[in-house]
Amino acid sequence: MLFIASFHTHKLVVLLFVAIYLIKTILLLVGSDNGLDKFSKFIKIPEMIISLLFLLTGGYLLMNIAEFDFLLILKLVFVLAAIPIAVIGFKKKKKLFAVISIFLIIGAYGLAEVHKAKMGKRQAFTEEVITNPEAQNYILALHGKALFSAQCAVCHGNDGTAGLSGAKDLRKSQKPSKEIEAIIISGKNTMPKMEGKFNDQELKALVNYVNSLKK
Ligand code: HEC
Repeated sequence: MLFIASFHTHKLVVLLFVAIYLIKTILLLVGSDNGLDKFSKFIKIPEMIISLLFLLTGGYLLMNIAEFDFLLILKLVFVLAAIPIAVIGFKKKKKLFAVISIFLIIGAYGLAEVHKAKMGKRQAFTEEVITNPEAQNYILALHGKALFSAQCAVCHGNDGTAGLSGAKDLRKSQKPSKEIEAIIISGKNTMPKMEGKFNDQELKALVNYVNSLKK
C-alpha cells in the first residue's frame, strides 16, 4: 500500500535528516568550521535526494490523511520553520540557529506522535445505542456499529472501505476474529494502539461489526 510505504520512507528520511543536522550541529558547536564545510560538501547530493523524498512522501501523506487537525498544522509550521533556520544556521555558522532547528524537528516528531495517540482516544457515540448487554433490547450488531462509527470510521469509513491514513479495506480483510481483536489492541503502522480503551463486551461488538463488513 502506497500510504504505508510512504509512511515508512518518510520516517526513515526524517531519521537521516536528523542525523545529518546533528552531525553538522556538533561540528558547528565544537568550532570545526573547516569540518562543517567539508561535511556539508560531502553530504550535499545525498541531502538533496533526502529532501526531495521528504517532501514527496510528506506531501502524499498529507493528502491522504484521515484527519488534518491543529496538531498537524503546528507540526507543519515547525518543519517549515526548521528548514530555513537550519540553512541559515549552517551557512552563517550560527550555533543557536542550528540548535533551534534540531529542537523544532524533534518537536514536530512529538506532535505527530501526539496526533496518533489522539486518533486512538475514546470518542463519544455519534448515535444512540444500548451498551448494556444485560438489557432486554440490547443488540450486539448495533453496539458494534455505534462503536465503529465513533472510533474507526474516521479512517475506515462506516462501510470499511474509505482507506484513509493507509487504512485497509475491511470488506476485503481475511483476518480471523482473534487477529481483529489483536490489531485493535496493539495497532499497526498508522492505526493507533487502543489497548485498554474497550472492555471485553465492546471488543466483541467491534469484532462482530468488522466481520459483518466482509464480503
Ligand atoms: C488512524 C486511522 C485508523 C483508525 C482510527 C483505525 N484504523 Fe484500523 N487500520 C488502519 C491502518 C493504517 C490499517 C493497516 C495496518 C497495516 O496492516 O499496515 C488498519 C487495519 C485494520 C484491520 C486489519 C485489516 C487487515 O485485513 O489487515 C482491522 C481489522 C482494523 N484496522 C480495524 C479497526 C477498528 C475496529 C478500528 C476502531 C476500533 C480501527 N481499525 C481504527 C487505520 C486505522
